[in-house]
Amino acid sequence: MRIYKVGVERIHALDGIDLELSENEYVAVMGPSGSGKSTLMNVLGCLDRATSGRYELDGEDTTKMTDAALASIRNERIGFIFQSFELLGQLSALKNVEMPLIYSKNGWRSRRKCAQNVLERVGLGDRIKHKPNQLSGGEKQRVAIARALVCNPSILLADEPTGNLDSKTSEGILKLFDQLHREGQTIIIVTHEEFVAHHANRIIQMKDGRISSDLQNNRNPRHKDVTQNSGLEEKR
Ligand SMILES: Nc1ncnc2c1ncn2[C@@H]1O[C@H](COP(=O)(O)OP(=O)(O)OP(=O)(O)O)[C@@H](O)[C@H]1O
Ligand SMILES: [Mg+2]
Repeated sequence: MRIYKVGVERIHALDGIDLELSENEYVAVMGPSGSGKSTLMNVLGCLDRATSGRYELDGEDTTKMTDAALASIRNERIGFIFQSFELLGQLSALKNVEMPLIYSKNGWRSRRKCAQNVLERVGLGDRIKHKPNQLSGGEKQRVAIARALVCNPSILLADEPTGNLDSKTSEGILKLFDQLHREGQTIIIVTHEEFVAHHANRIIQMKDGRISSDLQNNRNPRHKDVTQNSGLEEKR
């Protein structure tokens, strides 16, 4: 449960969510504006705490952890990607991606190498010196993805990562997510768009802070069993 208090009003942004995610799942979260999608992502990403209830990550209960412990979990195990990229404008792509490694014990050479490798992995090996305003929208989002991946997170959380991109550029980003998922990455993505959600293997619909449906997505062409007519199958 996540309750926001605004004046005397209490908003149940998350209301009795019971959710289990497995390693290497690719989940899309959909639902109308205000249904609690971002709130859910913030709790999953340890950016926010549930008002009541438990959240376990990799078998560890995060509920009673200190803020400092949560911050280090965020840094080591969570990769966040936002609709608006949130890159630092004065810094090159390379420096942006290196940023989360600031807390790592490795020296700068190794940090730089890591950042460079991950930029190459997202197809930006030839853009590492560019600043955000010298990159296209899709490239900026790739830098943000590289930054999210640089610490090898357990979960990659993306809140409307294609919301500001045209459909062709979105397809490029979705291909990259498909590839990361094949390589074993666990991905949770919030989207309003069906074509985005259909890249995922599981589609969760939210409504009024609750999960209104949770379906296995067999329409995904990469999914082995494509026999269902609707392509969607009850999860539980
Ligand atoms: N910091 C806050 N303080 C008070 N209420 C909030 C806060 N953040 C979100 N809310 C409320 O909680 C509810 C869920 O918000 P949330 O941002 O999770 O929705 P969402 O599903 O991500 O919507 P959108 O699709 O528009 O991004 C909304 O009613 C919103 O007004
Ligand atoms: Mg939102």
